[in-house]
Order: sequence, then structure tokens, then C-alpha cells
Amino acid sequence: MAYTLPALPYAFDAMEPYIDARTMEIHHDKHHAAYVTNLNKALADYPDLQKLSVEELLKDLAKVPEKIRTAVRNHGGGHYNHTLFWQSLRKDSDPIANGPLGEALGELFESKEGGEKAFLEKARRVFGSGWVWISVDKEKKLMLETTPNQDSPLLAGRQPLIGLDVWEHAYYLKYQNRRADYVKAFYNLVNWDFVQQRYEKLTA
Ligand SMILES: [Fe+2]
Repeated sequence: MAYTLPALPYAFDAMEPYIDARTMEIHHDKHHAAYVTNLNKALADYPDLQKLSVEELLKDLAKVPEKIRTAVRNHGGGHYNHTLFWQSLRKDSDPIANGPLGEALGELFESKEGGEKAFLEKARRVFGSGWVWISVDKEKKLMLETTPNQDSPLLAGRQPLIGLDVWEHAYYLKYQNRRADYVKAFYNLVNWDFVQQRYEKLTA
């Protein structure tokens, strides 16, 4: 298999009580796994494309034959987005550190702390399934955006820094229709050390 499901970097219950173990297990072992399986299926007859990373595929979807383009967009996006999502979470995470990321977030949200509110607003406006992102644009500036389905900011030439999964599969067991509570929980689980390192890499 060209693409494989990365192991969850912590136990299923690591984010309890904010994200329950059962949701984490189904989300990773069933949903994320299905994106990987379906991406492999879509690319089964294209050994040359299998040599590319998911990021390379999504950055230049035009090189993917039209016949499988939607499948690669959806399942490749699902694989890439979830891989980043797992890495972005940590219980008892440190607050946003001062430094380049703190400054850039301050600029984006008017204050470093304004991020949670802005994130909530964006998440509230996602109709149906999708993601909320803080992305790095071509000028290396941060922007807050949403994408439908499993679309990645990579499709638009941007680099995702943090992504919040607002598909119901990410929160329904515990939060049901209370998406805002899930968004608040997520914002308190962001692994800012990881995000800081990623930001430095993406803007270097
Ligand atoms: Fe998801």
C-alpha cells in the first residue's frame, strides 16, 4: 500500500474529557483509515502518482487524471487533514508562546487571545461538513479560512498551520449538536509547541 494510516501519537483517551476515547478511536481507526484505504484504491492503477506524497498530490491536482481527481481530492485531503489534526492536539498544552507565532496570531486576531472567539465564529458558519483553518498564505501571512468537505488549503496554494475538523463524526457522540462546546474544547487542546515549530518551518 502506497499510503498508510499513521499511528495516533497518543492513547485514545489522552484528550479526555474534552474528546472522549470512543470518538477518538472511531475517528482514527475508522474514518481516517477509510480515507487512506480509498486513496490507495483510487491510485491503484497509477504507480507513478503513488510515488508522490499526499501534499504533492493536493498541491497540484491538475496532474491527477480527471477520472480519479475527485477521489484524490476527497480521500487524499481526508488523509492529509487528519494527519495534521492528530499532531495538533495535546492535553495540558502550554499557552501560545511569545515570539513570531504569537505576534502573527496577535496581528490576525487583534490579540493572541482573540483566536478562540474568531475560531468559534468561523466554525459556526461552516454549513455541513468541513474544516476551519489557520493557514499560511503565499506572502507567509496567517489567515483564517474554512473549507468544505475534506478540501485542504493546499488546493489553493496555502499551507495549513492548524485545522479544526468540524465534521459531526469528530464530536457528535459527546457533544451532539453543541458544536460550539467542541470548538472551545479543541482550542484548549491545541499543541502550541507543535504549531510554533510548524510555523517556523513554513515561514523560514
Ligand atoms: Fe474527521
